[in-house]
Amino acid sequence: MPAIDSVALDRLRQAAQEAAGNAYAPYSRFCVGAALLFDDGQVVTGCNVENMSYGLTSCAERNALFRAISERGAGRRIVAFAVANRNGAASPPCGACRQVMSEFVASDAVVTFPGEHGPETMPFAEIFPRSFHFEKPGRP
Ligand code: THU
Repeated sequence: MPAIDSVALDRLRQAAQEAAGNAYAPYSRFCVGAALLFDDGQVVTGCNVENMSYGLTSCAERNALFRAISERGAGRRIVAFAVANRNGAASPPCGACRQVMSEFVASDAVVTFPGEHGPETMPFAEIFPRSFHFEKPGRP
């Protein structure tokens, strides 16, 4: 994993926790926040945004990622990713978010999330081994 000191990781967890305060979760009442750290020190956050249709709900992790790419492009390296919630529960990123993360988050990036017994921290490749990917086609 890249060298992320514990102070920077704590700050990232804190940013995710704050972002969870903006969650729009009137249906599940499960308020999630995510924060990602670029290699230049910039932090981008997101929260879950639910929808009355239920199926159109968007997770905190994907919202943070799509916001990050929208604001900064896909050229920079994401070196750490934190998830938090306001329910005092375990909340590792869901499977759909892991697949989306695999597009942009380096396999050795540090991922931290609330586990069953406190914070868990590991390289991205460990929570999402054997991701679906293929060689991007060249221009025709
Ligand atoms: N949720 C996230 O924001 N991230 C996840 O990785 C899993 C679930 C949200 C979706 C929904 O608003 C609520 O948590 C309950 O599933």
